Amino acid sequence: MQVEVMISAEDIAKRVRELGEEITRDYDSKDLVVVGILKGAVVFMSDLIRVITVPLEVDFMATSSYGLSTQTSGVVQLLKDLDTSIEDRDVLIVEDIIDTGLTLSYLNQLLHSRKPASIKTAVLLDKPDRRQTEFVPDYVGFVIPDRFVIGYGLDVEHKFRGLPYIGVVNN
Ligand code: IMP
Ligand code: MG
Repeated sequence: MQVEVMISAEDIAKRVRELGEEITRDYDSKDLVVVGILKGAVVFMSDLIRVITVPLEVDFMATSSYGLSTQTSGVVQLLKDLDTSIEDRDVLIVEDIIDTGLTLSYLNQLLHSRKPASIKTAVLLDKPDRRQTEFVPDYVGFVIPDRFVIGYGLDVEHKFRGLPYIGVVNN
């Protein structure tokens, strides 16, 4: 298997810093709760929270993944819920990638029902070609073509999450 670099570690670091600055400006004097979606978002989230300079709390949720396939089943299942109450607080959902949009629209609806002061979404990658919902993320690192990508948290068959760059698999 050959992996080709799509986005280098340097380009990711630069863009994550920019997003952190934007989020820092937008959440001045807010009660920020950053919600990472396990497992793919952990690398992006850990870099992002270190460049956001307003006080924040972190929590996690987990949804069902693709399993061993690269195609979504179209059904989102909640595997882990928040530990924290988000009522009247400012929630920022952090996700590795938006593809069909089903995961983020499901989570967004679920968290809305808990009456937060606000909900926004930050994704490192946006693959707009395969969208099946109207969902629009608020902060986007990079818009990418319809290729299956790995690294920087993203996996194929549970592997390659630790690659420091975003890569494409060439078989
Ligand atoms: P969505 O619900 O279709 O938007 O899918 C979002 C989830 O699908 C992400 O959290 C990823 O886990 C997974 N996913 C989508 N595209 C890719 C990819 O190119 N590589 C690895 N995982 C992906
Ligand atoms: Mg994921």
